[in-house]
Amino acid sequence: MISIPRVLLHHAIALLYNNCMKLSFSSRSDAGDLPPNRLAAARARLLAEGITIDEFSLSNPTRAGFVRPPELFVLDDPGNARYDPDPLGLLSAREALSAHYATLHRNVDPGRLVLCASTSEAYSWLFKIYCDPGDAVMVPKPGYPLFEHLACLESVQTVPYRLEYVHPKGWRIDIEHLEDSIRQLGTRCKALILINPNNPTGSYIHERERSSVIDLCARHNLVLVVDEVFFDFSLERHPQQKSFMGTSEVLTLVLDGLSKRLGMPQMKLGWIAVAGPDDVCMKTMARLELVADTFLSTGTPIMRALPGLLQHEQAFIEMVRTRMRQNYAIYHEVLEGAESPHRLLACEGGWTALVESPAIADEESIALRLLEDASLSIQPGFFFDMERGAHFALSLILEPAAARAYASRYVSCFQRMLMDV
Ligand SMILES: Cc1ncc(COP(=O)(O)O)c(C=O)c1O
Repeated sequence: MISIPRVLLHHAIALLYNNCMKLSFSSRSDAGDLPPNRLAAARARLLAEGITIDEFSLSNPTRAGFVRPPELFVLDDPGNARYDPDPLGLLSAREALSAHYATLHRNVDPGRLVLCASTSEAYSWLFKIYCDPGDAVMVPKPGYPLFEHLACLESVQTVPYRLEYVHPKGWRIDIEHLEDSIRQLGTRCKALILINPNNPTGSYIHERERSSVIDLCARHNLVLVVDEVFFDFSLERHPQQKSFMGTSEVLTLVLDGLSKRLGMPQMKLGWIAVAGPDDVCMKTMARLELVADTFLSTGTPIMRALPGLLQHEQAFIEMVRTRMRQNYAIYHEVLEGAESPHRLLACEGGWTALVESPAIADEESIALRLLEDASLSIQPGFFFDMERGAHFALSLILEPAAARAYASRYVSCFQRMLMDV
């Protein structure tokens, strides 16, 4: 018998596979086939040329120069050698979280808390338990693009509801538009997602909106999902800023996690707090427990470390808020001088402020010019589904000296662009 060398055999199989197999991917993972956009391609080229690019929309708290006690990041605990899985997450961690929220005047029973790896994962679990493929959830527009991807991966459609801006009062939900869209979707609509405060608009849900959305959820049988990852990061505290944790009227799930609260996205711990009428809460807990038990995705070391970590939370939040206020004032000063063509939008909280600048070209072309001429990487408004004008997202967590320098480069680059038109 003639023996065929193994390499040749592998080549032959690969050829056959490429030519004959029609490998099909799921439509819900389609976004991966998209080519990189012009901005991403230009960024990659500049980086390959060794050019330093500054992140004007920085949202990674571990890159923002916050000085943290090093022991925060060492999860050195012999108890980590044991694995005692609890689908909802270690009871000791849930009790610590419940006690911690009590100090913030927010009530959540440890039995109504579910721990997971991140807020993003929490969304995917909620979509799994409330939605069938083809169902829809309402999301704010402008809003963070993550939700669309998370929903798409669960074969769920996101339907945007409008937030309207009136200067300098700020953003409000267009309740009529929201209700119209819910009506049109009928029973396909399963949840209303609120981001409190929203990213990138920095707007909290105010009292009047709060009663309207609760009423809408009650009348249309919707689950109210409230993402409060930025809740404690207000520029100024205001009585209008109220958490949805412990809402009793309708089934309400509040999402949060260490990613923002302690500026530790790398630690991978998020949670869902369930509230509302007892019957639906119990049914929800049973379904969540099933999903959580299937994945058991939360790590023992971080859950065991949680009680200690929470003691550092207030110091971190206050350090970030101080910086947010400094940067917002810097942006006002640098971007809104006399006869400036730029306008800083009203912002109540969160890590981003929006600037509106002259729409001398489409946002992508302006962002390209800022990247190539000023070495500034900046997220344009279309990234957040903003409709009109030219908007850009400015980080409020940058070191203030960097915020000032980037804002000045932004203004100068715009002056050059304006001379060209
Ligand atoms: C409003 C909002 N929710 C959730 C997340 C994701 O948080 P996590 O890191 O916990 O998945 C982000 C990320 O920036 C966000 O902006």
